[in-house]
Amino acid sequence: MPPPRLVRAMERARHVIGSVHRRTAPPAATMLEMIIGAWRAQGIAVAADLKVADALADGPLTADELARRVGADPDALARLMRALISEGIFTRKGNRFALNALGETLRSDAPMSMAGMARMVGHPQYREHWSGLVDAVRTGEAYPPKLRGMGSWEWLETQPEFAAIFNDAMTSVSEFAVEPVIAAYDFSPFVTIVDVGGGHGRLLSAILAATPGARGVLYDLPQVVEGAPELLRRYGVADRVQVEGGSFLDAVPEGGDAYVMKNVIHDWPDAESLTILKNVRDAAKPGDTLLLVEFVIPEHDRAFIGKWADMEMLVQVAARERTADEYGKLYEQAGFRLTRVVPTAAPISLVEGRAV
Ligand SMILES: C[S@@+](CC[C@H](N)C(=O)[O-])C[C@H]1O[C@@H](n2cnc3c(N)ncnc32)[C@H](O)[C@@H]1O
Repeated sequence: MPPPRLVRAMERARHVIGSVHRRTAPPAATMLEMIIGAWRAQGIAVAADLKVADALADGPLTADELARRVGADPDALARLMRALISEGIFTRKGNRFALNALGETLRSDAPMSMAGMARMVGHPQYREHWSGLVDAVRTGEAYPPKLRGMGSWEWLETQPEFAAIFNDAMTSVSEFAVEPVIAAYDFSPFVTIVDVGGGHGRLLSAILAATPGARGVLYDLPQVVEGAPELLRRYGVADRVQVEGGSFLDAVPEGGDAYVMKNVIHDWPDAESLTILKNVRDAAKPGDTLLLVEFVIPEHDRAFIGKWADMEMLVQVAARERTADEYGKLYEQAGFRLTRVVPTAAPISLVEGRAV
């Protein structure tokens, strides 16, 4: 895992090179390149949909061989590959196409596969939601309820095909944050770690694997934690985890000395966020630690993925990504004191607080 400082230094260097490029190129050409980012994302989604990276896993293939494997038109596929290779995705070996580091991330079985995320962003129904960003910016309201006549989560339950893609995407995004969090934060002082909204327990498993003396409580909706035991067994921590089902809008389990919430609070507007954090505070004792793992929006105006994740939160569920100051205010209102923000090698940080 590269040190967070090195990653941030490279991001600053990228910003400087990007601004020099923008100053020297005609602005309209730069803008055009930005606008067609939508085409690029769709091309990546097609490669993921066709499982191009999976087909190349056993070795390089010619356009005809690859097209046969994935069920595509050889000429059209070769043109897609040319466009992707120009972005550094896949490479050429003579007259054959091959995997490289970026191409590997589109394999469905890669450890940090981005295939699910690519497929979700390219899915027609997802694109329909983003077509309502203009409405969300005008009104500050989520768009899916207007389009679907029901909330995003309710609608998802009616769409098994899209829900499977969505769940894969969430696994992709979640997985890529796990190792950087473990590398950046020392969980060893804690005896009992409660993961609130912890899904199937992937992060909790990694924390407990790195902290052999600790125990965990996994808390999420009853229908979600039903699926947890298999994952906890797979990571060898099942005997140290108590699984509890319930709603964090009602209550949170007592007994932790650390309460972790990864990518949970960003799903909620301020009022509900405060309800959840107050429920954590009711469960905690003074001095207990709260750790939110989130895209923390930096104060600078350089590129940061969380600024776009914030638009995703707005259009889908009228929620938001927040700055450290905004988290500090929520913490204070809920009965916590923000102690520090710990950066990681990924664009996510741990927002540490103590119950007062
Ligand atoms: C974006 S996911 C994050 C999951 C996990 N922490 C991770 O990072 O992979 C949000 C989680 O909040 C859970 N959740 C949503 N509403 C909830 C509620 N009312 N009570 C408990 N958990 C809830 C979801 O089931 C889901 O697991």
